[in-house]
Amino acid sequence: MRAGHGMTAPFFNPFALGEDPFAHFAEMRALGGIARGAAPYPELADAHYVFSHELVSRVLKHPALLQAPPGRYEEVRRKLVDQAPMALLSRSVMLADPPHHGELRRPVAGCLSRSAVETLTQGLRALSRELVDRAMADGRIDAVAGLAVPVSFWLLQEIMGIEIEDPWALKSVTSRMAGAFDLRTDQPPAASAAAYGECRAFVEERLAQQAFRPDGMVARMAREVAEGRWSREDMVANVVFMLFAGQETVVDAFGNAVVALHRFPEQRDLLERRAVDWSSAAAELLRYGASVQYAVARIAAEDIDLGNVGIANGEAVVAVLG
Ligand code: HEM
Repeated sequence: MRAGHGMTAPFFNPFALGEDPFAHFAEMRALGGIARGAAPYPELADAHYVFSHELVSRVLKHPALLQAPPGRYEEVRRKLVDQAPMALLSRSVMLADPPHHGELRRPVAGCLSRSAVETLTQGLRALSRELVDRAMADGRIDAVAGLAVPVSFWLLQEIMGIEIEDPWALKSVTSRMAGAFDLRTDQPPAASAAAYGECRAFVEERLAQQAFRPDGMVARMAREVAEGRWSREDMVANVVFMLFAGQETVVDAFGNAVVALHRFPEQRDLLERRAVDWSSAAAELLRYGASVQYAVARIAAEDIDLGNVGIANGEAVVAVLG
């Protein structure tokens, strides 16, 4: 295959990268940023992977790169969503295509208006300050247990409008759920399927007791069901998805950021001397310590061209984010 700059990128195998894939991603970027590689699901023959910022943006915005286009891919998708976790996940906003994607996204957009985000930001600042002050008084802190988990769960509870009495119990469930997204496993492991069941039971209980605030995202989802736009299964799937996506990612990114600052004391020093401001550092730490390395595979709904490489109708494209 021809890549940009006249170089040929080697076949990319995400299953054989070990614990530190980033050097390999950089190499692939230098070789043109697009390569054929092993497919994320055994049901697909192979896939195209894109590594550069420009190609990743194009893939994520491309109107003909979809989650489940009709045609050749339908049979594959049917097999994929046959398994327990994928059956539920496939109803989530993340795995939906327009126009259904827009319908499933309405409660998310409604909860994250500019003014709502401003209020949430102030609340996050106040809570973080309180936790750090307490740690200063104690003289020590576990950055994940004492900061990342309380902060991310506070945010999630505020957005969703539900109470999560025991974040660690839910965290243990969502960590096991993450197995369903691990590209290195052919089949979602049984532990992941069981964890989806536990999370679903947690959600069903809240819904049965109507244990949610009237202005949160769960209430907005319940209105979609009551007004006939969503099925009840859509609501359960999307609450489960939010409980997972809204904190597992944040806690991991926070942990990675703390490790990076520990590993590069000269960078930490720049922050402590205020030579660099915290918001640019946060953006860079999110990029450097990405907690999600791969976007969900998109399937070409027609023949398209990406970075001088032809993608045939029905082929998969994976954007590499790390
Ligand atoms: C550092 C933190 C986070 C990271 C790294 C992250 C990463 C991602 C990625 C990569 C996707 C897109 C996957 C794809 O399209 O293939 C995504 C989608 C999504 N995330 Fe996050 N996320 C983070 C935090 C959050 C939080 C805090 C929430 C909500 C409280 C959230 C809710 C969502 C939703 C609803 C989608 C689906 C959007 C759509 O398809 O329209 N995420 N996230």
